[in-house]
Amino acid sequence: MNKLIVSLLLTLGLVGVANAAGDAKAGQAKAAVCGACHGADGNSMAPNFPKLAGQGERYLLKQMHDIKDGKRTVLEMTGLLTNLSDEDLADIAAYFSSQNGSVGAADPKLVAQGEALFRGGKLAEGMPACTGCHNPAGQGNAEAGFPHLGGQHAAYTAKQLTAFREGERTNDGDAMIMRSIAGKLSNKDIAAISSYIEGLH
Ligand code: HEC
Ligand code: HEC
Repeated sequence: MNKLIVSLLLTLGLVGVANAAGDAKAGQAKAAVCGACHGADGNSMAPNFPKLAGQGERYLLKQMHDIKDGKRTVLEMTGLLTNLSDEDLADIAAYFSSQNGSVGAADPKLVAQGEALFRGGKLAEGMPACTGCHNPAGQGNAEAGFPHLGGQHAAYTAKQLTAFREGERTNDGDAMIMRSIAGKLSNKDIAAISSYIEGLH
């Protein structure tokens, strides 16, 4: 087949995938059970339950599949995704993604250290800045599947960074991006950076 036609078909194929994204309205009803922990609009009240509001659709969908398939362990969600189809998950991802995420406040004592790490990384140790993938305002990169971090509960963020560092969360791909980055963070670094992120927007 002609190369031009092949690339045209690929382009059309990609358009098809984009159109197959979830239906936020249908997702709202399907997400009712999730609201108990994550908040009806995805802004959870409890600091150990992550906010899902405004999170990138692609990232949300990947996490739901990872949790459903056991690639990421979330004991609190045991069995909750078992009976949801791929379409249900896509609709729920679209719903939470379409909501506005709330922002918290950073501890003023930790802002300077947190900001320095977030924006500058630890160059001497080869740790890149977080901004390159998660955006200077913490908005992530929805298309690439890099999660939105800004406004997230500090307790949740700290738990994730610790879990990546300790190898307890391993769904960051073969490149182990987050495991290698978190491996360079001390407990104090994690506390500062997580607090900074909670106030970031
Ligand atoms: C009983 C409480 C509870 C319920 C109900 C619940 N979750 Fe969760 N969910 C959690 C907790 C706790 C975590 C984070 C676990 C951790 O620390 O890694 C989580 C994590 C997630 C994440 C990953 C977020 C991120 O930023 O990586 C997604 C996505 C998610 N839940 C979707 C859902 C959906 C969809 C439903 C409804 C079908 C649901 N959850 C119901 C407690 C709950
Ligand atoms: C090279 C790109 C890249 C860099 C640099 C990077 N991250 Fe990430 N980060 C990712 C990706 C990709 C994921 C999603 C992994 C997955 O699919 O579970 C992620 C996930 C996370 C999560 C989990 C979010 C959630 O909702 O559970 C946190 C927290 C996080 N990163 C914080 C940071 C911090 C803090 C830094 C800087 C010290 C940083 N990241 C640097 C790519 C990056």
